[in-house]
Amino acid sequence: MKFYLLFFTLFIWIQEKHVFTLPRDEVLWALPQTDEQVEGLQNLLNTTEVILWQPVVVENIKKDREVHFYVRASNINSTKAQLRQLAIQHKVLIGDVQGFIEKQTVNDTVNPRRSSSYYENYHSMKEIYRWMEEVVKVHSDLLQKIYIGSSYEKRPLYVLKAIHVRERDPTMTMLLEHFDFYVMPVINVDGYEYTWSHPSNRLWRKSRSKHGNSKCIGTDMNRNFDAHWCGQGASPYECQETYCGPYPESEPEVKAVARFVRDHKNTIKAYITMHSYSQLVLFPYSYTMNRSKDHDELDSLAKKAAKAIRRTTKETYRPGPGAQTIYLAPGGSDDWAYDLGIKYSFTFELRDTGTYGFLLPSREIKPTCLEALSAVKEIAKHVLQNL
Ligand code: ARG
Ligand code: ZN
Repeated sequence: MKFYLLFFTLFIWIQEKHVFTLPRDEVLWALPQTDEQVEGLQNLLNTTEVILWQPVVVENIKKDREVHFYVRASNINSTKAQLRQLAIQHKVLIGDVQGFIEKQTVNDTVNPRRSSSYYENYHSMKEIYRWMEEVVKVHSDLLQKIYIGSSYEKRPLYVLKAIHVRERDPTMTMLLEHFDFYVMPVINVDGYEYTWSHPSNRLWRKSRSKHGNSKCIGTDMNRNFDAHWCGQGASPYECQETYCGPYPESEPEVKAVARFVRDHKNTIKAYITMHSYSQLVLFPYSYTMNRSKDHDELDSLAKKAAKAIRRTTKETYRPGPGAQTIYLAPGGSDDWAYDLGIKYSFTFELRDTGTYGFLLPSREIKPTCLEALSAVKEIAKHVLQNL
């Protein structure tokens, strides 16, 4: 009897200890402050299996710039030990990544599609397809759904066209009197679907295509446009996060968007692509450190857009040309659209600045949309005054 009891308690103790020391996936923050620390961190991140959140590639790590990266549970302890050894300032940004992801992916279908709370939650690709179908049905006087091609995995690619209708918001009414707005809710439909069907890959970035007999999947769509394609700032290696693909527009999604924009290039007056995260209003160029010929006008317009955001939600967005502001990134859609002749071409990097990074809590969706919309309106007003 006694023996059994003892055995039982010991068993519980082992269990508990196990639970307590079990590491979880974490997002870490680090700030290298010397050249040695920069190099040490680069080596560490190159040799450990981590996903860089900011900057996107190891080469862009600079002295006194924050680095955010995702570390799998199995590497947590050794990574922290190495950071300590290098005396690099660091902390845990998100200690329970899986918990965060679960919170963001539970409410997909509980909110009715027409309720306002529907727009305050994340949704799966399947749900977004159903939503698109329903909004164009309900608002057939205002919206059209345009099929522009299909993805690598044969999902349809849609653009919604918003046309003139009376709105409660007078600025919006005025803008819709003069412009049609084309909105593509999701370009990376395969990659996005993959982040929902494989929750451990909720942070997948690239497409889902496979070229030749590569052992890795996916191309970075924002390195696949025909704008200094695969120059410095993109990778020719299939397994990298910034893989540029085997040739420009190799991705069917990129090709579909490029064709749509090319076919409408004489009527499209502005192009805006929305990314996350960092809170930036970027304009060309990202493929070169040189200024574009419209630099001064775009710079002042980006500043106005950032001011509109500050008025709306008090958030700070930093305006600037892409390469100078963050890093060289060739093959981006904004540079490509600009060189095609669409002068007002921008990339918004939405919320936040690194507190939650790519795992932005759903309560921040609505304010993020409001501030982004105020910046879009500011740009549209400027375009209208300069037609
Ligand atoms: N987060 C973006 C990316 O790496 C930044 C892109 C800036 N480059 C650009 N072409 N706008 O894809
Ligand atoms: Zn991006």
